[in-house]
Amino acid sequence: MSDTHALVATGMTKSFFGNTVLADLDLALDPGEVHGLVGENGAGKSTLMKMLAGVYTPDSGTIVVAGQEVSFSHPVQAQRAGVSTVFQEFNLLLERTIAENIWLGREPRRFGAFGPIDTARMRRDTEELLEGLGVAGLKAGTLVRNLSVAEQQIVEIAKAVSFDAKVIQMDEPTAALADHEVELLYSIIQRLTERGVAILYVSHRLKEIFELCQTITILKDGQHVATRPAADLTEGELVRLMVGRPLTQYFPDKPVDVAVGDVRLSLEGVGNAYVDDVSLEVRAGEIVGLAGLQGSGRTELLETVFGVHPVARGSVSLDGAPLQVSSPRQGVRARLAFITEDRKAKGLALNQSILDNSLGVVRAVFPRRTAAARREMPGVLSNLEVSAHSLGQEVQFLSGGNQQKVVLARWLSIDPLVVLMDEPTRGIDVGAKHRVYELMRELTRQGVAVLMVSSELPEVIGMSDRILVMRDGTLAGELPAGASEEAVLAMATGAATEGDAA
Ligand SMILES: Nc1ncnc2c1ncn2[C@@H]1O[C@H](COP(=O)(O)OP(=O)(O)OP(=O)(O)O)[C@@H](O)[C@H]1O
Ligand SMILES: [Mg+2]
Repeated sequence: MSDTHALVATGMTKSFFGNTVLADLDLALDPGEVHGLVGENGAGKSTLMKMLAGVYTPDSGTIVVAGQEVSFSHPVQAQRAGVSTVFQEFNLLLERTIAENIWLGREPRRFGAFGPIDTARMRRDTEELLEGLGVAGLKAGTLVRNLSVAEQQIVEIAKAVSFDAKVIQMDEPTAALADHEVELLYSIIQRLTERGVAILYVSHRLKEIFELCQTITILKDGQHVATRPAADLTEGELVRLMVGRPLTQYFPDKPVDVAVGDVRLSLEGVGNAYVDDVSLEVRAGEIVGLAGLQGSGRTELLETVFGVHPVARGSVSLDGAPLQVSSPRQGVRARLAFITEDRKAKGLALNQSILDNSLGVVRAVFPRRTAAARREMPGVLSNLEVSAHSLGQEVQFLSGGNQQKVVLARWLSIDPLVVLMDEPTRGIDVGAKHRVYELMRELTRQGVAVLMVSSELPEVIGMSDRILVMRDGTLAGELPAGASEEAVLAMATGAATEGDAA
C-alpha cells in the first residue's frame, strides 16, 4: 500500500518530561501533494516535523518513505532517505557561498573520494538546481551573508532538492517573507509538486493553507482532529476544528465606551537615515495602523520613536512634552513599549522560565514595580492562553507562537502609554490572535495609544481607527478605518495617482 505514498507515518508519539505533546498520529503524504498541517500554538506541529526530520526520536511510531521503513537518529539520515526540512531558523554558514552551503560535507571531488573538490562541477550543479527552481538570478558563488532572508530560504530549499527529496517539510515558511517574496515561494512549491515532491506545510495563515494545500490535517493539543480534502472545508469549519469552538467575529468591535482622547504621541517632520519628513499623531485610546510594502520604512519609523535610531531632523513629543530618547532603555523609561516579531530582538532568555522572562523588562527598568507585576503576570499569561505546563517552564521549550505571547506579556507589564507594535501576531494561531486583538482594545480602554505595523492587510484594516500608508520612507497618505485592501495597496505602491484611493 505504502509505495504509492511518498511518506506514511503511523502512531507517531512523543512526550517531554512526562507530557505527551503528540499522541498516536497517523499521516500519509502523496507524491505531488501539498499537505497542510494546522493547529493552535503548541498543538505539536513542529514536534511532528522534527521527528520526521530526524531531530527528535519518536517514543513510538513508524515512518515509511517511498515504501521503505526508515528510522532516523540524525537529520542527515532523514535527508538521505528523502525527507528534507526547511525550518524557520536556517542552518546556513554565512561566510560560505551558496554552492558550499548546498554541498557541505558531500562536495563533488575529482580523482576519487580523497581528491580535490571539483569546484566547477559544484558550481554547475548549483546553478542547475537554482534554475530548476526558477531562480536563475542567484549565483552559486555568492556569499550567503549577502542574501536576503527570502534568498536564504531558497538556498535551504535548493539544498533539500539536492538530496533528491521525496518530501519537503516547511515550518511557517512565509513568516519571514515579504508579500512579493511569498509569490516566489508559491511558484517554487508549484515546481516541486510538478516533479512529484510531497510538501508538508505548516502555517497560521489560513488563506495560504487554502491557496496551496490539497489536503489538510488538523491537530489539537497533540491529538489528531481530522484530515480532509481542502475543497471540503470552509475557513470557518477549519477554525472550529482547530480551536474547538466557532470564532464568529474575528476582529472585536471597537468598544463604544472608548473616547479618543488627547494626542499622546506626536511626530513633527521626523527624519533620519531611514525615514523622511514624517508627521503623525496618535491619540489616547486610538489604534493607528501603519501599512506599506516591505522596506517602506515602517519598522524603522517605530525603531526611531523607540530610540533605536537617532532623530536627525524634526521632533517627537509625548503627552505634549518633547521626548528625546537615544536608546531603547530610555524609550522604556518614557513608558513606550515595543512589541516586535524579530526573533533576535525579542531578547528572550531562553534558559530562563516563562515568569522570569515576562518580568524581564519591568525588572530591568522599573525595579520597584516588579513585585506588583509578578502578582499580575499569571493572569496576563493565562489571558493570552500561553500553553505550557507551568510558568516555571523554560522558554526554549515553548512553541514559537507561545514565545511570542511571552513577548507580549513582558511589555504589558510596564504599564505603557504608547505601544509600538511590529507584526504583533506573526506566528500566533487564530484563537490567540483574537485574544491579542481583544487585548489591543483593552489597552485603548486604558487610554494607551497604539501604533501598529502589520503586513496582514485584514489585520490593519480590521483593527485600526486610521491607516497611515508609508512609501519610500515617507508617509504617502492616510485612509479611514475600513478602507479596502485595494486602496491601501494602491497607496503603498503609488498606483493611486488620481486621488481615487479612498
Ligand atoms: N524540547 C522540548 N522540551 C519540552 N517541551 C517541548 C519541547 N519541544 C516542544 N515542546 C512542547 O511540545 C508542545 C508542542 O510544541 P510544538 O513546537 O510542536 O508546537 P507547534 O504546534 O509547532 O506550535 P506553534 O504554532 O506555536 O509553533 C508545546 O507544549 C511545547 O512546549
Ligand atoms: Mg511550531
